[in-house]
Amino acid sequence: MSRFLGIDVGTSGTKTLVIDDQGRILAEATATYPCAHPEPLWSEQDPDDWWQATVTTVRQVMQKAGLKPEDVKAIGLSGQMHGSVFLDKAGNVIRPAILWNDQRTQAECLELEKVCGGRPSLISLVANPALTGFTAPKILWLRKNEPANFAKLAKVLLPKDEIRRRLTGEYATDVCDASGTLLFDVAHRRWCLPLMEKLKLDTSILPESYECDQVTGKLSTSAAKELGLSTECLVVAGAGDNAAGGIGNGIVQPGEVSTSIGTSGVIFSYLDKPIVDPEGRVHTICHAVPGKWYMAGVNLSSGACLQWFGEELCQAEAKSTNGNLFSVLTKEAEGIPPGADGLFFLPYLAGERTPHADPDARGCFIGMTLSHRRGHMIRAIMEGVTYALRESMEIMRGLNIPITEIRASGGGSQSKLWRQIQSDMFGQPVKTLNAEQGPAYGVALLAAVGAGAFNSIQEACAATIKVVQETPVNTNNSKYYDRAFPLYRDLYRSLKADFKSISALAKV
Ligand code: XUL
Repeated sequence: MSRFLGIDVGTSGTKTLVIDDQGRILAEATATYPCAHPEPLWSEQDPDDWWQATVTTVRQVMQKAGLKPEDVKAIGLSGQMHGSVFLDKAGNVIRPAILWNDQRTQAECLELEKVCGGRPSLISLVANPALTGFTAPKILWLRKNEPANFAKLAKVLLPKDEIRRRLTGEYATDVCDASGTLLFDVAHRRWCLPLMEKLKLDTSILPESYECDQVTGKLSTSAAKELGLSTECLVVAGAGDNAAGGIGNGIVQPGEVSTSIGTSGVIFSYLDKPIVDPEGRVHTICHAVPGKWYMAGVNLSSGACLQWFGEELCQAEAKSTNGNLFSVLTKEAEGIPPGADGLFFLPYLAGERTPHADPDARGCFIGMTLSHRRGHMIRAIMEGVTYALRESMEIMRGLNIPITEIRASGGGSQSKLWRQIQSDMFGQPVKTLNAEQGPAYGVALLAAVGAGAFNSIQEACAATIKVVQETPVNTNNSKYYDRAFPLYRDLYRSLKADFKSISALAKV
């Protein structure tokens, strides 16, 4: 029997699933953990929580699927990108991990660009500009702000790679997650040693990088025992959650694009070549398909905006809906017309990444009147998040990236209304798939490819992932969004300087 595990170390929890050699899901499990915000706009987690969640969920899926240890031939790892796990030379975690949505490194981002001789030079080295959530500025932050911790630093790992270390003892990563460190030569798929030198960082802190379907090791005796698996079980490199989600959505050919609305919102396009936005407004990253790339726009708060609204302003419903708050909220928005009677929402509750790269950006409702109801606010949030994705999509269209098919995924896309808003906003029908498990499913497929169950990732996707539904465009709504989009875009530009002042005021 050949079975494969996919483990996704997410921000709100870890999700594990097991598939057979035809790609059918046999069991899945999720375990959640907290995220600490010790200062405004900081985001930290304890890697021990990720490990506990990994052990719990692996044991649960093994039991649910009735598997013996030797049935599982390989594991694929995925996880939140850009996080920093700082380790000393004995392999101890030095301080809590700093996550992808942490905004503390504005000064270090400026320093990084300066050291490289400006933003365009940095983009030419690593394909992306300095962004607060990425790994490199966090290392510089540690050096400046916690010198005693920096003195102990022997290795920096990404979240899923810390789980790999605990599984196999290996210090390794994959080319996709490595691309999100800002220390990787994305075009040539190798660490950017000239940049390490400019930053006066020792290259020994970097793990070995692999293509995503390559095997990086086998389970250690102690990990195999703790998880109830065999020491013959392979661990493949896997991928950061965006590329893993891309595989889970079958985005492996030119023209294929996916959107994902989870905590963050992502628009993801396959690239045959490493095409880079010279202005650095969207990301270029190595894909999990060997020798290929992807372009992504990432909004830091997407589903997170609706979750925040529900938890803070709909507490009665949150108590009485038994975990079903999201569908209660989206139902309330169903009767509201496109445009929410002139109400806009800017979804920058945690600052914004693409295209603005602005930690000072703030969320706001604009255009409120006495006649607006809560349903209007909910619809405005859903539209604001989708406008934000469209901004990145327009940049991709401007760079001549073909967009022939859009596949919608993530919790947000389970809402019929949110799918309709996406089709109308993008002016192209969005499609949904039989496989809805995103990154965990993508890396389970990578594990199956790495262990030889399929010849290639494209073959694995073609055999397992099918479009099951399409949401046609409502032409009238689409025309409305085309008219309103420039106004949405101008709102940020008009408020940019004020956001900066508000943020400075709040710091006093
Ligand atoms: C990708 C990114 C987020 C995290 C969320 O660039 O920052 O999608 O990976 O899990």
